[in-house]
Amino acid sequence: MTDAALFTPLTIRGVTFRNRVMVSPMQQYMAERDGLPNAFHAQHYGRQAIGGAGTVMTEALGVTPEGRVTWHDLGIWTDEQAETLKPIAETLGAAGAVPATQLIHAGRKGSVGRPWEGYNPLSEADAARGFPPWPTLAASAAPANPGWHEPRAMDEDDIARTIDAYHAATRRAARAGFRFLEIHAAHGYLIHSFLSPLSNRREDRWGGDRAGRMRFLLAVTEAVRAAWPGDLPLSVRLSCIDDQPEGWTLEDSVAAACALKALGVDLVDCSSGGLGERTTTRMIRRPEGYQVPFAERIREAAGVPTIAVGLITTPAFADAVIREGRADIVAIGREALFNPHWALHAAQALGADPGFSDWHPSWGWWLEKRARAARAPAQ
Ligand SMILES: Cc1cc2nc3c(=O)[nH]c(=O)nc-3n(C[C@H](O)[C@H](O)[C@H](O)COP(=O)(O)O)c2cc1C
Repeated sequence: MTDAALFTPLTIRGVTFRNRVMVSPMQQYMAERDGLPNAFHAQHYGRQAIGGAGTVMTEALGVTPEGRVTWHDLGIWTDEQAETLKPIAETLGAAGAVPATQLIHAGRKGSVGRPWEGYNPLSEADAARGFPPWPTLAASAAPANPGWHEPRAMDEDDIARTIDAYHAATRRAARAGFRFLEIHAAHGYLIHSFLSPLSNRREDRWGGDRAGRMRFLLAVTEAVRAAWPGDLPLSVRLSCIDDQPEGWTLEDSVAAACALKALGVDLVDCSSGGLGERTTTRMIRRPEGYQVPFAERIREAAGVPTIAVGLITTPAFADAVIREGRADIVAIGREALFNPHWALHAAQALGADPGFSDWHPSWGWWLEKRARAARAPAQ
C-alpha cells in the first residue's frame, strides 16, 4: 500500500468520496428528442460506474427544453425525466461512486447539431429532418459565433422563469437519487453569457459592473442551494478565464468563488474558455493539466475546495495535483472515454490497491490471484 494522495477519501457535508477521481461531465448527445436517457446511457454510465472513480458526474441535464444544446441532450425539466434518471444514479451508487449530475441552460449556444454532425446552428434542412431550430435566450442579443442564431436578450420574466426552472430541476435531481450537484456556469452557456463583459452588454441590474454580471449566477445558486438538501455537496463549474482580450479574468473568478462560497457552494470546478468558440473542438496544443493553475489559485485565494480538469491523463500527474494541494478533486474527461477503468488502473499504477480490492470481486479476486502467481518464485 502506498500513500497515494489521489486515493485518500474526501468528506464534504454528509458525503464521503472514496477517492479524488471524478469522471467529468460529458454530454453524449444520444437522447432521441425527449431528454430521456435510453439503453445507450445505461450502458455508458454502467461502464463508467465500475471504473473506480470516487464520483461520476453525468452529462449536463437541460433545465428547460430551450436550455438544451442539441435536440439529443438529456433533460430534467419533467418528473418523467427524473424518474428515468433514477436507475442511472442507482447504478453509480451501487458501484461505490457518488452519483453526481450537472444542470445546464445552454443559452445562446443552444439549437445546434451534434458535434460529429458539424455542430452548426440548426437550419431549415434540420427542420425538414424533424429537428427544427428553436429561439435561444442570452444576457444580450449577440450570437456566440458569426452566423449563429441571434438570441433574445432575457427580460425580467425570462430571468425569473429560468431561476425557477433551476430550482425545480434541483429538486428533481435530489429525487432521482443524485448526491452531488454541479451548476454549469462555464463554456459560454447561459450563465457564462451573463458573467463575461464580452457577451453581457446589459445596462440593467443584471449587467454592467462585475457585481451586476454575477447577479444571475448568484441568484441561480441561491435557488439551487435552497432546493438541494443541506447534507449534500454543491459545486459550480466556471470558465476561470475567457482567454480573450477584455474578457472575464482569473481574478473575476476568485471574486465569484468567494461569493459562491458565501452562498453554500462547496467546490469550484475550474475550466476555461468556450465563450464564443465551439467549446469542445478547438484545435490547439496544450500541456497536461493546463487548467490546474486556475484551480490552485482559486483554492488558495478564495479558500474554497476546487476541482481541477483538462487534459489530466496520467496517474502520477493527477496524484501530484492532490498531493501538492493544488486541487481537491481531479476530473478525468476524454481519458475516461478511452479507458473507463482509468481510476482502477491509476490505483494499480500508484500502488494504492495491491489486493485489487477496489475492483468488483468477480474480477478482483482473479486479478489478485494472477498477480500473486506472477510474483511467485519459479519452481
Ligand atoms: C464529449 C464531451 C462532452 C462534454 N460535455 C460536457 C458537459 O456536459 N458539461 C461540462 O461541464 N463539460 C463538458 N465537457 C468538458 C469536459 O467535462 C472536460 O472539462 C473537458 O473534456 C476537458 O477535460 P479532458 O481533457 O479530461 O477531456 C465535455 C467534453 C467532451 C469531450
